Amino acid sequence: MKIDILTIFPDFFAGPFQHGILRRAQETGLVSIETHDLRRFTNDRHRTVDDRPFGGEEGMVLLPEPFFRAAEHIWERGKPRGRVILLSAQGKLFRQPLASELAKEESLMLLCGRYEGVDERVASHLAEEELSIGDFVLSGGELAAAVVVDTVTRLLPGALGNAASSVRESFAVTPGTRSAGLLDCPQYTRPAKFREMAVPDVLLCGDHKRVEQWRRKKALEKTWVNRPDLLSGAALNAEQQQWLAEIKKETAI
Ligand SMILES: C[S@@+](CC[C@H](N)C(=O)[O-])C[C@H]1O[C@@H](n2cnc3c(N)ncnc32)[C@H](O)[C@@H]1O
Repeated sequence: MKIDILTIFPDFFAGPFQHGILRRAQETGLVSIETHDLRRFTNDRHRTVDDRPFGGEEGMVLLPEPFFRAAEHIWERGKPRGRVILLSAQGKLFRQPLASELAKEESLMLLCGRYEGVDERVASHLAEEELSIGDFVLSGGELAAAVVVDTVTRLLPGALGNAASSVRESFAVTPGTRSAGLLDCPQYTRPAKFREMAVPDVLLCGDHKRVEQWRRKKALEKTWVNRPDLLSGAALNAEQQQWLAEIKKETAI
């Protein structure tokens, strides 16, 4: 996959992409990430990328031209057009199913806003969609772009050491497993007892069937406690529905 990021702060990305899975994915050629400085696509000697909004509001808005020129420059060099995404608090919410969809694309172009945002013509005529990473306002699209790149890259075939990890983790919908769009179950490692805090006995019993059942129940419990909204869209089987009824009773105040 090829990912192009258009930003006024290209140096921002020097750190986030140089570790772990992301670094390996680049080294092995699974993904190639290129950042483009929007100031290179300006016309004046001050390399102006922003201006005041029409209508007399506070703050500054990023100009459309550097975005359009940068994108055209990238396409003229022969890169596939791919999917163009504007990171924006006004966008639709970026969720795991969309990340899986994006992981199938040949190329992505991520447009990062700053200040009061980006001239709307970028959203309406250059980007295919606006994506938000959550109901909060960041000071720039760079962090959001890094979140999208990380989430999508780890879903590329071969990116994870163990391919099974991504099919049974939080938000994954994998029929026949505990992953029904719920949160993942809690995990423990050594030591079995740490400062009087013991690992649940069931995890040490060696009975894989009991362990899996415990994990399924705990995933349901975590989801009920922390993200009950996820349960409305989850396809729970009869056993899980029974457990959920029990969990609701146990956790009722
Ligand atoms: C300070 S924000 C602009 C906020 C805008 N005035 C609004 O209220 O929707 C500057 C830039 O940060 C990015 N940004 C802010 N919050 C975001 C979010 N939740 N998801 C994705 N990008 C975000 C966008 O690129 C945006 O153009």
